[in-house]
Amino acid sequence: MKVCIIGISGKLGQYMVEHCLARGYEVTGVCRPESLGKLERFGDRITVFPGRTNDPQVVAQAVGDADGVLTVLAPWGTDDYASGTAKAVMAAAKPGARLIYSCGWHITRDGKDRFSLKIKLILALFGPIGRWTGLVDLRDQYRATDLIFESDTDWTVVRGSDLEEGESEGLPVWSEHVQDPILRSNKTRRIDFALFMVEALTDDGLIRKAPAINGCRTPSALEHGASRPAALRTSLA
Ligand SMILES: NC(=O)c1ccc[n+]([C@@H]2O[C@H](COP(=O)([O-])OP(=O)(O)OC[C@H]3O[C@@H](n4cnc5c(N)ncnc54)[C@H](OP(=O)(O)O)[C@@H]3O)[C@@H](O)[C@H]2O)c1
Repeated sequence: MKVCIIGISGKLGQYMVEHCLARGYEVTGVCRPESLGKLERFGDRITVFPGRTNDPQVVAQAVGDADGVLTVLAPWGTDDYASGTAKAVMAAAKPGARLIYSCGWHITRDGKDRFSLKIKLILALFGPIGRWTGLVDLRDQYRATDLIFESDTDWTVVRGSDLEEGESEGLPVWSEHVQDPILRSNKTRRIDFALFMVEALTDDGLIRKAPAINGCRTPSALEHGASRPAALRTSLA
């Protein structure tokens, strides 16, 4: 399988490289020129196209005829970075390619997510501050995911919980809405977020879904995982 990783030099991107190489996938990617050094350890096992992830030409070169594209939707800047990235990926990908995007729990597909006070406070505070400083534009992440949800591509939008570093615990559990009991612990290892993104490439059951994920060893996953339908259970062994 040929896989392109958009935002390959970030923490999530590098974990996705490791999972892809372990599966024998051919890996290309896009990262900002100043971040190339972060990928040195992969040597010639990956092919990197330096550039901004919302640059259609760079993205098209990197995506080529990839079977799957893993995109880190980052909320940086106020120049439509996330929506520009999503547009560039959708324009470049071949028909039928699996397109997997990362974002946070604050994104909702159907408006039925009930957000915790913590998420509401973060959005209320960091939304305006991020825009005022020019660092982050969360509204553009909403625009990006709306474009993806409305597209007729084979997309999956993976909504990450709070993240932590650490060794892999296994494939995260997921559910449709962030208030679902299995997600209550709200904690996923970043390496397992990456694992879920890479596994989604070959999981047709996730096409046109926006799973909210949570670590498979967290208390809420262990408490509620066993009662979930088999199709939704993951590696809780
Ligand atoms: N952090 C969390 O707690 C959290 C929680 C839930 C979901 N998520 C989601 O997880 C994904 C990865 O997030 P992460 O926090 O783990 O970070 P990350 O993997 O380190 O990725 C951040 C990405 O943003 C790029 N970036 C950083 N600064 C930038 C700038 N000023 N302009 C343009 N691009 C810039 C990075 O590229 P460079 O390598 O070039 O810097 C990298 O590709 C995102 O989709 C995020 O929404 C994060």
